Formats: sequence, C-alpha cells, structure tokens
Amino acid sequence: MNPEKWAFNLLLPLIFIRFCTSIDTLTPTQSINDGEVLVSSGETFALGFFSPGDSSRRYVGIWYNKISVQTVVWVANRDSPINGTSGVLSLNRDGNLVIYENTTRNHSTLWQTNVSAVSRSARLLDSGNLVLFQADGGSGGGGVWQSFDQPTNTFLPNMKLGLDRRTGLEWFLSSCKSRDDPGTGEYALRVEPNEMPQLILFKGSTRVWRLLGWLARGPVWNGFVFNSTFVNNSDQVCTSYTLTNASNPSMQFLDESGSLKMVTWDGGKWVEFMSIPYERCVGYGRCGAFGYCDLNNGQEFECTCLPGYEPRSTEKWNLRDASGGCIKKREAVSMCGSGEGFVEVANAKVPDTFNARVVMSLSVNECKEECEGNLLLRGLHK
Ligand SMILES: *[C@@H]1O[C@H](CO)[C@@H](O)[C@H](O)[C@H]1NC(C)=O
Ligand SMILES: *[C@@H]1O[C@H](CO)[C@@H](O)[C@H](O)[C@H]1NC(C)=O
Ligand SMILES: *[C@@H]1O[C@H](CO)[C@@H](O)[C@H](O)[C@H]1NC(C)=O
Ligand SMILES: *[C@@H]1O[C@H](CO)[C@@H](O)[C@H](O)[C@H]1NC(C)=O
Ligand SMILES: *[C@@H]1O[C@H](CO)[C@@H](O)[C@H](O)[C@H]1NC(C)=O
Ligand SMILES: *[C@@H]1O[C@H](CO)[C@@H](O)[C@H](O)[C@H]1NC(C)=O
Ligand SMILES: *[C@@H]1O[C@H](CO)[C@@H](O)[C@H](O)[C@H]1NC(C)=O
Repeated sequence: MNPEKWAFNLLLPLIFIRFCTSIDTLTPTQSINDGEVLVSSGETFALGFFSPGDSSRRYVGIWYNKISVQTVVWVANRDSPINGTSGVLSLNRDGNLVIYENTTRNHSTLWQTNVSAVSRSARLLDSGNLVLFQADGGSGGGGVWQSFDQPTNTFLPNMKLGLDRRTGLEWFLSSCKSRDDPGTGEYALRVEPNEMPQLILFKGSTRVWRLLGWLARGPVWNGFVFNSTFVNNSDQVCTSYTLTNASNPSMQFLDESGSLKMVTWDGGKWVEFMSIPYERCVGYGRCGAFGYCDLNNGQEFECTCLPGYEPRSTEKWNLRDASGGCIKKREAVSMCGSGEGFVEVANAKVPDTFNARVVMSLSVNECKEECEGNLLLRGLHK
C-alpha cells in the first residue's frame, strides 16, 4: 500500500473526532477522550465525561444536550470514577465498550460491557439509549447491549422497568449516593413479578413503599405529561411510558432519599409535578397488623381497623402511630355468627401481593367460599 494513503487512513478517524463534534457513533478505530462528546442525531442527548455537583472526579455519562442545567440520565462507571482527565472510552477489539485511564502503559480498565457477541459500533440514539451494534453503521445486526438495560437512577421515556422473563434480565432503578456522587446508593425501585405485580421501593432488603394500582390500572396522573403502559405476559412483566407532548422534555428519577420524582422542563428549569410517596397510604405496613389504609375514611387519621377489630393501643393510635396494629374486639360482639366470616371491606389498599394467590375470574361469592374454606387470611395487615 502507498505509505501516504496508509497514513491518511490512520489519521482520518482522529481528525474526524477532533473537528466534528456531532457524531453519534463510535467505531473500533475511534475513542472518546475527556472533553469530547457523542451527540445523538436529533441532538437531544450527548455522551461524554463529566463531573457531578462539586466533585472533581470524572464519569462517563449521558445528559440532555440542549438543556442548560446539567442533567445526567445515565452513568457508566458510577462506582469507578476517574481522578483527572486521562479517561478514554473506546470500543475494544472484542467488541466491548471500555473506560480506562490513559496513564499507565497497561491501561487499567475501570468499566466495561461484558458482551460475548462482537460489536462493530456504539451509537447514541436520540432516545438517550447507547446501543452496541454488530454492524458498522450504528444499526443493523440487532443491538447486543444497550444502556437502557442497565439504568442508573433515571427512568426515561421508552425505557422499561420490570423483568424479562426469558433472559432473567431485570430493569430497575437505583438511587445515587449524593448529588456529588452518582455511585450506587441504598434505594432500589423494582417491579416484583408476583402473580399480581407491584412496584416496590427497597432500602437494602427492607420494603419502604409499595404501589400496586400503578401497574394494575396505570397511574392516576396517566395522560398528563406521561402515557404509561404495563405489559404482563410470558415474555416480560414491565412498565414503560411515552410523553404526551414530545416537545417538552420530561422524565422520572429516583432521588437520593428514595422518592420517585417526575419532572418536566418548563421555563428554563425542571419543574417537579409529582413525587412518590405522594400520600400516606403508599408507605409500607403503615397501618399495622389487621389495620388498613383508607384516605377517605372520614377520619383525620387514614388508618382503620378491620371490622370487629380495635387499635391495640388507643393512646398510640390517637398519636397517629398505627405500628402496633389492631386486635380483636374484647366484647363478644362479632360481625359474624360464629366469630369468623367474610366481610367486604371497601376502599382498602390491596394487601402486599408477595404471598397472594391471584384468581382473576372469581366472583365475590366464590371468593367468599374460598376464604371460608381457608381461614388463614394472611397479609391483610400490610
Ligand atoms: C482516585 O483517588 C482516590 C483517592 O485519592 C483513590 O482511592 C482511587 O483509587 C483513585 N482512583 C483511580 C481510578 O485511580
Ligand atoms: C494516550 O496518551 C498518550 C500520551 O499522552 C497519547 O499519545 C495517546 O494518543 C493517548 N491515547 C488515547 C486513546 O487518547
Ligand atoms: C504491565 O503488565 C505487565 C504484564 O502483565 C507487567 O509485567 C508490568 O509490570 C505492567 N506495567 C505497569 C506499568 O503496570
Ligand atoms: C462486567 O463484569 C464485571 C466482572 O464480573 C463486573 O464487575 C462489571 O460490573 C460488569 N460490567 C457491566 C457493565 O455490567
Ligand atoms: C402475569 O403474567 C403471568 C405470566 O404470564 C401470569 O401467571 C399472571 O397471572 C399474570 N398476572 C396478572 C395480574 O395478569
Ligand atoms: C397513550 O398510549 C396509547 C397506547 O400506545 C395510545 O393509544 C394513546 O393514544 C396514547 N395517549 C396519549 C394521550 O398519548
Ligand atoms: C407541546 O408543548 C409545546 C411547548 O410547551 C407547546 O407549544 C405545544 O402547544 C404543546 N402541544 C400540545 C399538543 O399540547
């Protein structure tokens, strides 16, 4: 080969990446150094190195490109930051994305995708998804890895939250440690794939709050800013959403204290229009054993004992502490003939479905028969 041509071929990718900032695809001959970015084709999202808050550490992330406030929606090396600006993101020979420090001769790897299929390109899509493709052009051959499969704390439109039943891949959010540290925090928001799936916020292994209706019926605010959908079949159980007005950037994220925030970009800032837990019945186990939560019970306190039960401690109950739950009324006044029976309780938050059996087709009378045949009514206290 003509040596001049050879040199030209080698230089071209470097020149391209130095002088043309709006490329959206990375190929094995290119790399992104600190200070360089990929920009998605519609210029909605950018990918590059950044430092969060007051931190000086460097992370590779994806952020809204056109929004003046730094809004990072995904972080690759969230638990392996880089000190200084020697970081490099590239597609290595075996087709994996790697982040390393270009300081030592041996390039210690800080983060990498672990895909066995060989990718030829990594492309930042206008949805904010970074996808590895087996073909050169940033499409075709199917994506073999995507950042949407490894969410950080942000739930973007068209992302999924739930479980791929075929592969076992779980899509869940985990909070950041702080505004200055995007490292994996202590809260995680997951879809629990029970017979009646529910959305649960965990702090470690402790259940903090729980939403059932969102998955069963869609959130109450559906159609306002977001349009949520829920899928439950043999392939997957997941929720996702689209924007009702795509020209207004809007998204959801799990903050450092375990609240799910919903925000929309309006008038030069992010405006929060919903934060979960948004009402007291969302908290886990709020009303104790044999109590249930009903915001519309006509009382100032939303906790109510089941029919035939009374607060274990009236004093605590009056101080709005229902953690002791309810006990059977001492007087022999029973709701039911022999002391046990079936009573309809309206407006109760549906119990934790962790231990539940779901039979969608049962009528109220059939349910009564099932229950009377199995008096071990469990879980009603959650
Ligand atoms: C960055 O610095 C911190 C403390 O100064 C150190 O613990 C950490 O190992 C360094 N990280 C890298 C990737 O060198
Ligand atoms: C790594 O650093 C060396 C020396 O500073 C530089 O010549 C080289 O271009 C860098 N590599 C990348 C991929 O940026
Ligand atoms: C690089 O790796 C080689 C072989 O694993 C090792 O002998 C050498 O000490 C390493 N060099 C540095 C600078 O870490
Ligand atoms: C790749 O595998 C390593 C080692 O098992 C793991 O620590 C790392 O988190 C994986 N990377 C990703 C992006 O999942
Ligand atoms: C969800 O899907 C699973 C698997 O197809 C099924 O067993 C379960 O009954 C479904 N639950 C609901 C509430 O539809
Ligand atoms: C919400 O999504 C459904 C299903 O994709 C669609 O039929 C409906 O028109 C959407 N509604 C709005 C307000 O975008
Ligand atoms: C969408 O939002 C833009 C910007 O706020 C507004 O101008 C437009 O009227 C909205 N479209 C609809 C259908 O509401």
